[in-house]
Amino acid sequence: MIFFDKDTLQFQLNTKSFSYVMQVRDGFLLHLYWGEKLSQGDHSYFFREQGRAAFSPRLEGCRGFILDDVPLEYPCWGRGDLRTPALEIENTDGSNIVDLRYVSHTVQAGKPGIPGLPAVYVENENECETLVIRLQDAYSKVTAELYYCVMADYDILTRYTRIINEGEGSVQIRRAMSASFDFDKAEFDILSNYGTHCRERQIERHALKHGRFILSSRRGASSHVHNPFMILTSPETSETAGDVFATVLVYSGNFVAEAAPGQFDSTRAMIGLNPEEFSWKLNPGEDFYTPEAVQTYSSTGLETMSHNFHTLFRTRLARGIYRDARRPVLLNSWEACYFGFDEERLKKIGTCCGDLGIELLVIDDGWFGKRDSDNCSLGDWVVDKRKLPNGIEGIYNHLKPLGIDLGIWFEPEMVSPDSDLYRNHPDWCLDIADIPRSEGRNQLILDLSRKEVCDYLYDSLAAVLGTGMIAYVKWDFNRNMTEVGNPNVPADQKREITHRYYLGLYSLLERLVTDFPKVLFESCSGGGGRFDAGLLYYMPQVWTSDNSDAIERLRIQHGTSLVYPLSAMSAHVSASPNHQTEHVTPFMTRFNVALTGSFGYELDPTQLSDEEKQLVLATGNTFKSYGEAVSKGTYYRLRDPHGGDHAAWCVVSEDRSLCIATFVLTHVRMYGRNERFCLRGLKPDAVYVDKNSGAEYRGDQLMNFGLHVPLALEFSSLQWILEEKA
Ligand code: DGJ
Repeated sequence: MIFFDKDTLQFQLNTKSFSYVMQVRDGFLLHLYWGEKLSQGDHSYFFREQGRAAFSPRLEGCRGFILDDVPLEYPCWGRGDLRTPALEIENTDGSNIVDLRYVSHTVQAGKPGIPGLPAVYVENENECETLVIRLQDAYSKVTAELYYCVMADYDILTRYTRIINEGEGSVQIRRAMSASFDFDKAEFDILSNYGTHCRERQIERHALKHGRFILSSRRGASSHVHNPFMILTSPETSETAGDVFATVLVYSGNFVAEAAPGQFDSTRAMIGLNPEEFSWKLNPGEDFYTPEAVQTYSSTGLETMSHNFHTLFRTRLARGIYRDARRPVLLNSWEACYFGFDEERLKKIGTCCGDLGIELLVIDDGWFGKRDSDNCSLGDWVVDKRKLPNGIEGIYNHLKPLGIDLGIWFEPEMVSPDSDLYRNHPDWCLDIADIPRSEGRNQLILDLSRKEVCDYLYDSLAAVLGTGMIAYVKWDFNRNMTEVGNPNVPADQKREITHRYYLGLYSLLERLVTDFPKVLFESCSGGGGRFDAGLLYYMPQVWTSDNSDAIERLRIQHGTSLVYPLSAMSAHVSASPNHQTEHVTPFMTRFNVALTGSFGYELDPTQLSDEEKQLVLATGNTFKSYGEAVSKGTYYRLRDPHGGDHAAWCVVSEDRSLCIATFVLTHVRMYGRNERFCLRGLKPDAVYVDKNSGAEYRGDQLMNFGLHVPLALEFSSLQWILEEKA
């Protein structure tokens, strides 16, 4: 996996399908290649010694090249490279020069964890080899250790940086990227997710132009607006052909992903903590770890990229018993009752769930304090006896004989000004002294960078989870950060608070998932405002969007699938007309779209007609039969809902003996075309039987001619369950 040639000072990192090559020259760590796999050998000639100056100074003692014109692995600010740096340090004397040169390297089997941060893991040492390259500034003794973890079978390379102050005075890290990439060309398309609350992760693609293209969040969360990844492709790249260079950041807070074609038509890209809202004081002897960046390369289009990320995130980032187990069919109370429930109503819903084969009832917002609306009680995680006079136990005891588990909602990171917690600890929230705090949804954010706050939250949640009655937690986060501060933190460390907040959140989550291993945690942030790889390490599924409309979900789920697996996407059948859009959509379309790895209902089952109840029973059984295969299967995007009048996809089981294909008609036109669509990922010679019609097809027919789609009504859909004939 990792080769080092001591004569040419080249590092070659090989996965199953791609290579990544670096070389040390004049002490600088240069980037030589990232692309299709190369045989092991000397690739020195890849380096171009053009020495173009173009107003860029030549570094003293460095004959061969002008720094501004060479591909660098971890570029720094202050010497001859005048492009965006990966690392910027404010030295003890206030200067901001850092000049990292190669010192040494080590190679080890396995993959070390990153202290305090979520990271991809391995199950045995053979799955990964790790290269650590040590670079140092000879004057300041600022040292960077670049970690390269090669997971060859997964076609994954992960990277992060440890910065150590080996000098004698304190320094400030102003900017520290997790990974930086220099390409020697500028012809790229960039793909991103953009959006807002209820319209998350739409896909946008366009050509990269000169200048700096930045995707970022400074909102104190990875956010609904952009997602922490960067995908660069060749202009002609499609789902199934062409180059893709992709990186995902394993982090939930402020991030930046940047791509910038430069003056010589090379491109520098990078990903990491957003430096606009960050700095970190490093005293002598201290170190700092960046979050992990996970990168993959595909020469066969976006599909392979997605498959690489899906497999990795599902099996080597998600953890716990629900990583591999089928998730329960759940019913969430939010769109069923909002704040308006009591024990009586929940029991009726519970009884109905029992009749309908639903396995888990989740009590969403409104069960604690005196919360009848969103204007109070966050922080007071004690049952509201007005609504639930017999406590959680009253509901639990009702559900238990019905075979239904109980789930519950928390928004632990928040506090309402009208709460006992706030009255007792008004100083516990993010705060800049003397400046009024902004409320969002009538709430303030607790400062999770403080240990006492995290301890309070641990105790509050543990008191509920420790009863053993709770099988599932929905962990919400319903506003972004403002007035980030803490009057007790010195001025030169104020910009550490957001990152320290996330270190606090991650350590709180680590304690909870360790101490309550049987609880299924689902993350949520007004839907998908923190749908990121960082939280997937603790919570294997995410409430994908507060928009539960099946037609709106097509784009949201399609966009989410660029990077994240179906097992992570929570999707529910909601009522029709839909509560957000008022779309009227057939039940089967709502089900077909909601059939991801984490499935449930977002409606009041007591209000369903008999016919709808039959559909709930039947579709619940479909999820129980196929949900695990869907969650572990390979997902193929077949028709893009951003583009036309329809959406289509299929999921193929690991052994390719099962395929579930779905087609949704989103717009009806007069004299519509003779629609058919081709599947992918099947065994060409196998015969597949359509479970519903009994029709038989060969894999090669399904992949090359496809299936007819006799749909005529807007928002109607078809789903084929195709099983290999024994
Ligand atoms: C936002 C979530 O996304 C919803 O599903 C629901 O839990 C509400 N918060 C409750 O306040």
